[in-house]
Amino acid sequence: MCGIVGFIGAQEAAPILLDGLARLEYRGYDSAGIAIWSQEKGMEVVKAKGRLQVLSDMVDGGKALKGTVGLGHTRWATHGEPSDVNSHPQVSENGRFAVVHNGIIENYAEIREILQSKGVHFVSQTDTEVVAQLLEYYYRGDVMEALTKVLHRIEGAYALGILCADCPDRLIAARKDSPLILGYGDGFQMLASDVTAVIKYTREVCYLDDGEIAVLTRDGIEVLSHPYLLPVKKERHHVDWEISAAEKGGYEHFMFKEIMEQPKAFRDTISPRIQEGRVVLEDLHITAQQLREMDKLYIIACGSSYHVGMAAKYTLERLLHKSVEVTLASEFRYCEPIVTDKTMVLVISQSGETIDTLAALREAKRLGARVLSIVNVVGSTIARESHDVLYTWAGPEIAVATTKAYSTQLAVVYLVGLYFADLLGTIEKAEYDSIVAELTCIPDKIQTILDQKEQIQYFASIFFNHPSIFFIGRNIDYAVGMEGSLKLKEISYIHSEAYAAGELKHGTISLIEPGTLVVALASYGKLFEKLMSNVVEVKSRGADVLGVTTESRKETMAKTVDHVVAVPDTHPMLLPSLDVIPLQLFAYYVALMRGCDIDKPRNLAKSVTVE
Ligand code: F6R
Repeated sequence: MCGIVGFIGAQEAAPILLDGLARLEYRGYDSAGIAIWSQEKGMEVVKAKGRLQVLSDMVDGGKALKGTVGLGHTRWATHGEPSDVNSHPQVSENGRFAVVHNGIIENYAEIREILQSKGVHFVSQTDTEVVAQLLEYYYRGDVMEALTKVLHRIEGAYALGILCADCPDRLIAARKDSPLILGYGDGFQMLASDVTAVIKYTREVCYLDDGEIAVLTRDGIEVLSHPYLLPVKKERHHVDWEISAAEKGGYEHFMFKEIMEQPKAFRDTISPRIQEGRVVLEDLHITAQQLREMDKLYIIACGSSYHVGMAAKYTLERLLHKSVEVTLASEFRYCEPIVTDKTMVLVISQSGETIDTLAALREAKRLGARVLSIVNVVGSTIARESHDVLYTWAGPEIAVATTKAYSTQLAVVYLVGLYFADLLGTIEKAEYDSIVAELTCIPDKIQTILDQKEQIQYFASIFFNHPSIFFIGRNIDYAVGMEGSLKLKEISYIHSEAYAAGELKHGTISLIEPGTLVVALASYGKLFEKLMSNVVEVKSRGADVLGVTTESRKETMAKTVDHVVAVPDTHPMLLPSLDVIPLQLFAYYVALMRGCDIDKPRNLAKSVTVE
């Protein structure tokens, strides 16, 4: 949801900013812009609607803009349509302040009106322009004084980068509820929405916290607290992600690369946590006593992470013998949740920055809950604000549609389930041992499915023109169907719905007509027969059925459906990790055949930092 990057140093800034924006483009890609200051030309701002390439071409890859300090932005429009004028940086009326922003200024309309009544002329429809104009309005020669007044006045979420033509020897940044990292270099400093934009230049970073302001000069970074501008000592972190992890490495799309990386990502996530056949979660500080006293376990997440939560509900209830409630983060705050100091909340988020999830986490904490989060991005806000965090070791996920983060989140759910069940004494030793043993086989089994990708590609070639596709399943198969359906619709733009198979006949079956494609998930052995009855129901209304089941049931299913994809047999609890792979591949190939922009689907952005 908008990417921002800033550079101040001795090198030309524009090529570095464009490079950083290219790595942040997954956060928004409807327009982009940069502001550069130079002695000769002062403040220069170039911005354009469209992909970053449009901007890059306009400035000859950055060569056309001279200057060693600047800001860049790639936008996902909230206020004001994607257009040149609504692109960032937004500039104050006399050109003194250039501002890039990620987030939403909620009271922008009111401030805009007041400024307009005082004669300030606005050119864009953005909420961000209000920040630039307000800085100018409060400015009496001291930028920090103006900024503290602005931060006092604005409401909402922001990560801000500010360049002032009167003091071009510094960049200023401020944060509330939207991510911002600072990169420390030798003779240069950087700011960015996430580390991928800076790791080519520096691996030493710190994470700005809410209510903090950073002043970057060529020699260093000073962090101050708002509003009294008291110095804050920040902890530096070393990022050890390989830069290649955030590059395509010969693959046509990040999504495909990330699908193929899943065996490794899964293995990296579980291996350090399984020692001599036991799950060891050293990062966790939850006791058996706390678990026994737990009155409720909530799982809170959005999108695909929510779908992991759906699968986790079945798993955790089975293992812990406790009821688990899965709630969409965007609903949690508004449903008057019943939370006590005995409640535990499991938060799932790849980015660790999703604003709805973060807000729900804060609300749960406020009500007294203990929060354990499963997060991929180290140092992200959700990770830092949780009582306990377990990281997924998926590496950077760039494609907007998540794949390897989903798989590694599931892996951590299994580990948590086993660990808690062991503490609670709700699992027999033989069952524990067999699940742990099977867990270590999952990466190879995922690889087996990936090795048969051509079969899925063939099915995609048959169905890629279908206008509407249904996914049906029961129990964990239903949870996986929801993810398969989301994958398909977000990247291929085909209408799709996931249904609990038994629910179809309560209304939705009226949409099934000759030729409708139904993807029937039937891997969960206990409910295989029941699911097959639902398959027969849709078949007799003319549906084409693509079945997904395990090797051991493939032949039986093939007698009823049109096509079958089989995944290796495994422990029933772990089936989602295998079932999801053909669905990811199916969505990918369908989107490819439809000529869609797979890594950057329309209207979407990764890391949803607005409500
Ligand atoms: C879909 C997808 C989204 C995210 C959702 C939550 O492919 O990626 O649905 O799962 O926006 O994001 P995180 O996990 O970062 O909180």
